[in-house]
Amino acid sequence: MSQFELVQYKRKKGTKKNLDHLGLNAAKKAQKFHSSFDMYKETPLVSLSSLSKELNVKNIYVKDESYRFGLNAFKVLGGSFAIGNYIAEKLGRDIEELPYHTMISKEVKEKLGDITFISATDGNHGRGVAWTANQLKQKSVILMPAGSAEERLYNIQSEGAKASITDLNYDEAVRLANRYAEENGWVLVQDTAWEGYEAIPTWIMQGYTTLAYEAYLQLQGVKPTHIFLQAGVGSFAGAVQGFFASVYGDDRPVTTIVEPNAAACIFQTAKAEDGKIHPVTGNMNTIMAGLACGEPATVAWEVLKDYSDNFVSCPDYTAAQGMRILGNPLAGDEKIVAGESGAAGFGLVSEVLRNPELDWLKKALGIDENSVLLFFNSEGDTDRDNYRRIVWDGFYKRTDMD
Ligand SMILES: Cc1ncc(COP(=O)(O)O)c(C=O)c1O
Repeated sequence: MSQFELVQYKRKKGTKKNLDHLGLNAAKKAQKFHSSFDMYKETPLVSLSSLSKELNVKNIYVKDESYRFGLNAFKVLGGSFAIGNYIAEKLGRDIEELPYHTMISKEVKEKLGDITFISATDGNHGRGVAWTANQLKQKSVILMPAGSAEERLYNIQSEGAKASITDLNYDEAVRLANRYAEENGWVLVQDTAWEGYEAIPTWIMQGYTTLAYEAYLQLQGVKPTHIFLQAGVGSFAGAVQGFFASVYGDDRPVTTIVEPNAAACIFQTAKAEDGKIHPVTGNMNTIMAGLACGEPATVAWEVLKDYSDNFVSCPDYTAAQGMRILGNPLAGDEKIVAGESGAAGFGLVSEVLRNPELDWLKKALGIDENSVLLFFNSEGDTDRDNYRRIVWDGFYKRTDMD
């Protein structure tokens, strides 16, 4: 069996999920909120022209989220916007009346009283929630799945959170966080959704649109032909997909959702095509820790099923290869420090374009010399030990998998 699997959806005519909540106006609102933060700076959109010549495509763009707020990943965009909206709702205000300095003010804290935010996370989302809670002088509790990196735990604890690594997988940790929230009156800020828990995850997705909107502006009218989005529960992919599908309508770029073989729950759900969510269970052993999630977020799947074109499940070595290529640029290109989940989309395509055995996939994805490819490096080296093992010591090569 191939280590690469593809499911393709034909573009639908007729009624599709409404995208107003992820469209231009929604994204402008989220970006306005984030830009009120002192540490806000748009992250770079890097054009890799030497590499695009080498790989025989027209251009390769990488939006580098390792620069986001000094937190090394995009995730804070979601947690902060969700918490901002939660507070706005509590105070009976609109988020537009709650820019950063108002939100963290003494006056707001006094009105709110003490709140504990809780979340389950492999690290990046938890760091964003803990960071936001810290800014608000509120408490946070973060539960991490078994096998989470010590460095990620430490970074969350450094934001004042009560954080621990559990012996559960991601989805089980989410259920435990939900139970603690109910038992203790804490606020669950979870980056995935299920029936009955969709308001906060929708705000989280809206928060992610900031990075899509920035990329759209940075592209200065250049429309990518292809967008590649890595997925855990799919909230990130759904948000970015939703934004670009809303902006470009029927002329939207071809979008491919990328997941590791060990945790390809969106892929399995797409493949079954029976209107139901198809979870993946077990320990989901993959180097792409941020993508090691077994249950698609309902609010994300609603978008992905109507607007995404391709769903690909791929082996771990592709992400490792992506990290090495981005970290060792050709002359004239900028270096990008990409973590395992961050490099997933790019890693898949680098392999598809370099490995003749994957010509079938290149053709199916419709990539050729006129293609303009857009990727999102969703995290930097959030686990530096593993980054070095992969980039310096060359762990996880294609040949290891033979
Ligand atoms: C770095 C990184 N990239 C991508 C994702 C995927 O996001 P989602 O779970 O919304 O699909 C995550 C999730 O934690 C992540 O940490």
